[in-house]
Amino acid sequence: MKLQFRFLPIIVLAILALLFAMYSGLLRMGWNWPTFDNLAAAHGPLMVSGFLGVLIPLERAVAIRQKWMFAVPLIAGAGWVSLFFAPALGASLLTLGSLGTLAILGVMVRREPHSHTIVMALGALAWLVGNSLWMLGFPIFQVVFWWITFLVLTIGGERLELSRVLRPTLGQIRLFSLLAAALLAGTILATFSLDLGSRLSGFALLGLSLWFLRNDLAQRNLRHPNPLTRYIAICLFGGFIWLGLSGSLFLYFGALYAGPLYDAALHTVFVGFVIAMIFGHAPIIFPAILGAQVKFYPVFYVHLALLHLSLILRILGDLALRMELRKWGGLLNEVAILLFLGLTVYSIIKGSQAK
Ligand code: HEM
Repeated sequence: MKLQFRFLPIIVLAILALLFAMYSGLLRMGWNWPTFDNLAAAHGPLMVSGFLGVLIPLERAVAIRQKWMFAVPLIAGAGWVSLFFAPALGASLLTLGSLGTLAILGVMVRREPHSHTIVMALGALAWLVGNSLWMLGFPIFQVVFWWITFLVLTIGGERLELSRVLRPTLGQIRLFSLLAAALLAGTILATFSLDLGSRLSGFALLGLSLWFLRNDLAQRNLRHPNPLTRYIAICLFGGFIWLGLSGSLFLYFGALYAGPLYDAALHTVFVGFVIAMIFGHAPIIFPAILGAQVKFYPVFYVHLALLHLSLILRILGDLALRMELRKWGGLLNEVAILLFLGLTVYSIIKGSQAK
């Protein structure tokens, strides 16, 4: 298979955002390392709107291939870079990027008016509203529910699409839609009443986790004979469990503004769910964007196991107020992500050399 390098610069833009975001995450954890103005504060926006905000519209643009769509990840890229020297301009560009992503999803819904495209479009809408509120000066501890909804519905729509082979019943689709609506309602509520909104969002995240555990294709593929399919299913299954844990924390604790409990509730979903989904979806996404096969190696389980174990360490540190545990857990989360990046690049190169 021949590698296509056309989209590589945009992927590099996303990976650079991830690297800055990871470094700033460690600063936020208390690692006393060199920094510059605006870096630590940019962590959340860099992760959500910089890294994923470039990658997600790129993947959609590659699928639909209308020229204007490729401007969207570039606008988001310009946005995250601007965050360091002109934060207001950065926030505006990132908001424009989310508007562009919603427009791309609008095209998708018109072409394929199905539940999965509508769910993804609602995810993009949540991102746009969240970014607009953030641009207007709303604090991140409120805006963050919009960002969670963006990522959970984007991934949820993708899973709905891939699980269609199981022919979900109307009842299952209705239950999913109800939970997605509850998540949106919780997110809207959190903008006015943080405590109630956090609890309703938490309830919906817990419900969605149970829904995925029961209905997603992953549970059927856990014992699949193909090692890559089995690995993807194991990545997804673990992610669904972390999603439920995040929901339980938000449901139990309600409003959180900063500190270890805030860290635990956010990163069970952001690292446990979102990053595990990225580990699992990379073998599907990269072939689409780069025209490259991802060759499976059993060593992939090393970064997956490290991600889960280090996150357990981090969350235990958060809950027990043991700051050293939390710091090391966070650092090892990042070692797992770096290992994943390195092994994925290696596997793509090997896959492209294979006949
Ligand atoms: C991989 C390692 C990561 C580390 C070490 C890290 C670290 C942190 C820390 C220490 C905080 C502040 C929590 C507090 O107030 O005590 C934070 C907040 C946050 N993180 Fe992460 N994080 C990581 C991954 C992620 C990912 C993958 C995402 C999103 C996809 C994310 C999104 C956020 C957001 C949105 C906030 C809230 C920011 C704010 O309130 O200013 N993080 N992170």
